[in-house]
Amino acid sequence: MKVAIGADHAGFSLKQVLVSQGLAGHEVVDVGTHSEGSTDYPIYAFKVARLVAAGEADLGVLICGTGIGMALAASRVPGVRPAVCTSEYMARKARAHNNANVLCLGGRVLGPGQALEILNVFLNTEFEGGRHARRLRMIEEGGGV
Ligand code: RB5
Repeated sequence: MKVAIGADHAGFSLKQVLVSQGLAGHEVVDVGTHSEGSTDYPIYAFKVARLVAAGEADLGVLICGTGIGMALAASRVPGVRPAVCTSEYMARKARAHNNANVLCLGGRVLGPGQALEILNVFLNTEFEGGRHARRLRMIEEGGGV
């Protein structure tokens, strides 16, 4: 699987762990940041989101302090469905029910072990389709009301 990953300064150290351990065996596109120097999370959110939207990556991973800013920014790119996950349950449902294609994590929220487990579930869970596909179409169409 080809996975694009990006982080700001608050997510940098967790990104390094995920790249070296959680994504071993996958093709990884690391869009940065490459140090703990202060930077702006939207830069990396849009880089990863555009790779996923263009089909140049199968899935994306974004890490900032909470995951929230990354998700807000990535959601602006059509075709991108970011999900902030703080548990394996959330990661499983984000893929199975929401067909999330960008996992957003909080480097100041999660320990590395927890984050690795969440990433593993996200990478290995398939979208269930069916009624969930209908609901995703409703989101694209403005709620169906
Ligand atoms: C950076 O201090 C922090 O605001 C950022 O990493 C992120 O948590 C924003 O959502």
